[in-house]
Amino acid sequence: MQTRRTTPTAPRARLVGRAALGLTLALTTAGVAGCTAQEPVTTPASAEQVEVFTWWASGSEKLAFDSLVEVFVEQNPGTVFVDGGIAGGAGSTAKTLLASRLADGDPPDTFQVHGGAELADYVADGRLRDLDDLVVDLGLDRTLPASVRDMVSVDGTVYAIPSNVHRANVLWANPDVLAAAGLEATASFATLDDWFVALDAVRATGRTPLALGSTWTQVHLLEQVLLAHLGPQGYAGLWDGTTDVAGAEVTAALADFERLLGYTNADRDSMDWQDATQDVIDGDAAFVVMGDWALEAFEEAGDTAPTEVLWATAPGTDGVFDVVVDAFALPAGAPNPDAATRWLRAVASADGQTAFSNAKGAIPARSDLGTAQLGTYQRAATTAFRADTVVPSLTHGAAVSTGALDAVTAAVGRFTSGATTTTTLQAELALALR
Ligand code: BGC
Repeated sequence: MQTRRTTPTAPRARLVGRAALGLTLALTTAGVAGCTAQEPVTTPASAEQVEVFTWWASGSEKLAFDSLVEVFVEQNPGTVFVDGGIAGGAGSTAKTLLASRLADGDPPDTFQVHGGAELADYVADGRLRDLDDLVVDLGLDRTLPASVRDMVSVDGTVYAIPSNVHRANVLWANPDVLAAAGLEATASFATLDDWFVALDAVRATGRTPLALGSTWTQVHLLEQVLLAHLGPQGYAGLWDGTTDVAGAEVTAALADFERLLGYTNADRDSMDWQDATQDVIDGDAAFVVMGDWALEAFEEAGDTAPTEVLWATAPGTDGVFDVVVDAFALPAGAPNPDAATRWLRAVASADGQTAFSNAKGAIPARSDLGTAQLGTYQRAATTAFRADTVVPSLTHGAAVSTGALDAVTAAVGRFTSGATTTTTLQAELALALR
């Protein structure tokens, strides 16, 4: 599909009064990306503060987060917002830091968490308060689709308020790079084999066919290759033991994963998702496989981005929605639980859901908001989420526990750095997912 840049038909909240927001944040916060949150600069003596811990701390993600903060500040002028943002895509740095803060009894007031197995880990460790009363009070028991509600619940109790739903299985492309390779302007490939033909054509022009970043983005790519080879049922079976990780389909997927690595940039281990996406925006690379948060990187690039943003479901995954749910939890021992609850209310509010989703390339978690206020991409994604087969993302905390994902990530890192073969990788994946 093609999405003309700047075409969202609804006003994008973060563009409204961004300067005013910047001023508010400057006056009320001293959160610094890459550092632990710090004390507010100007806290009125009686004002309550809320430290919100996320990894939306740089680039287009930070801008999107600002739009949610703007809604919170409007709804809660008396509460001081403290940005606990720690940069690093997919929480690659933030989640480790959060774990040590929780272990040290130093929780933030609220933190970003993925719906699914990642959330369940925190619940099993006794880290979270249950949010059932708040959910009823907010009417979320009626307005969350069952699939989303399940992902923020453990044993029927809700432990996090979802801010948005992302799709992980998206391929993005630069039309100018495709044209230079004599290819049609499309990111849509029915099979991996079809895609390999296009990747070869780009390679012949001397540009990078497929931009890739550091290990978590490599796991993200592997996830899409597994999905293409195994189909939604086989892929989902990897996480509940009904698909044999040591079996022939996974072997074939790993062979294609290895082949794909041969089309990627050599400096991938030094790049996060923004850098890899930027290579496509700049025309240095043709394709990147990335979740739909990448839309906003294209949008933010302004005049330097290609005129058309080409996107499609990742090759071989049409009809499947590989889901990522972002949510906020209330940790036991949060210093300011009332302020944290006000944050959760803003996250659940219609304004919060719409503003953030439009700025983030996501769709609202609530199903009662309609699509009139959403951008072009978001409307298409909403339709797909309702119609497609939904599977949980491995890389983004939905499918397996954090321990298993860490083991998968380490195995993939060893393989992509050349230390192991696909045979070893498959054995290590089987062990990690046992
Ligand atoms: C999160 C997204 C985020 C992406 C890149 C994912 O794990 O769910 O909200 O944009 O990581 O940081």
